[in-house]
Amino acid sequence: KRVAVLASGSGSNLQALIDTTRDSSQCMCAEITLVISNKKDAFALKRAEKAGIPTLVYSHKDYATREEFDSAISSALEAHKIDVVCLAGYMRILSAEFVRKWKGRLINIHPSLLPRHPGLHAQRQCLAAGDRESGCTVHFVDEGMDTGPIITQERVPVLNDDTEESLSERILQAEHRAYPRALRNVATGRVRLNSLGNIMWHS
Ligand code: GRF
Repeated sequence: KRVAVLASGSGSNLQALIDTTRDSSQCMCAEITLVISNKKDAFALKRAEKAGIPTLVYSHKDYATREEFDSAISSALEAHKIDVVCLAGYMRILSAEFVRKWKGRLINIHPSLLPRHPGLHAQRQCLAAGDRESGCTVHFVDEGMDTGPIITQERVPVLNDDTEESLSERILQAEHRAYPRALRNVATGRVRLNSLGNIMWHS
């Protein structure tokens, strides 16, 4: 499967996906063939260039509406014959049109045990709630905010002296295991969405 990663930031999840998909012992059935960012300075782009993966940058300032911006990205994904799109720290909300078009082929990672703490600053929300555990979730994207069907989760403890930074770092380590695992399940067809948008697992 040809996979595109959309990233706005450091791209450590992108790096985990590049490394695992290139590890022949992992049988990922997936190759990262395109990286797209909405931030021209994103470190994710450097990681992609270093790995020899084509990159594209789109600035929303060049488009009148969110729909036009997303439609430009969609066209690029089609031109690159992308099968699966991974959001990895992509900090823009996607239009409903884009989500519908890529449904079942679009996955996201979120730094909490969804449905707890959707949205921004999930780690801060977790600490404010006094939770004793947190983790990450990889899910199919639907029209809601961090609401789509869950593919995998990984738990981490919350420690008494955790700061937002220390908790985020622990969750990030879990993300780097969970995202490749989820992508493998999607790319190999072990998990998919049916036409009603329900998650289906095959043994
Ligand atoms: C991760 O915590 C991800 O869950 C969140 O943004 C962060 C991206 O980190 N959506 P990176 O850019 O992959 O290092």
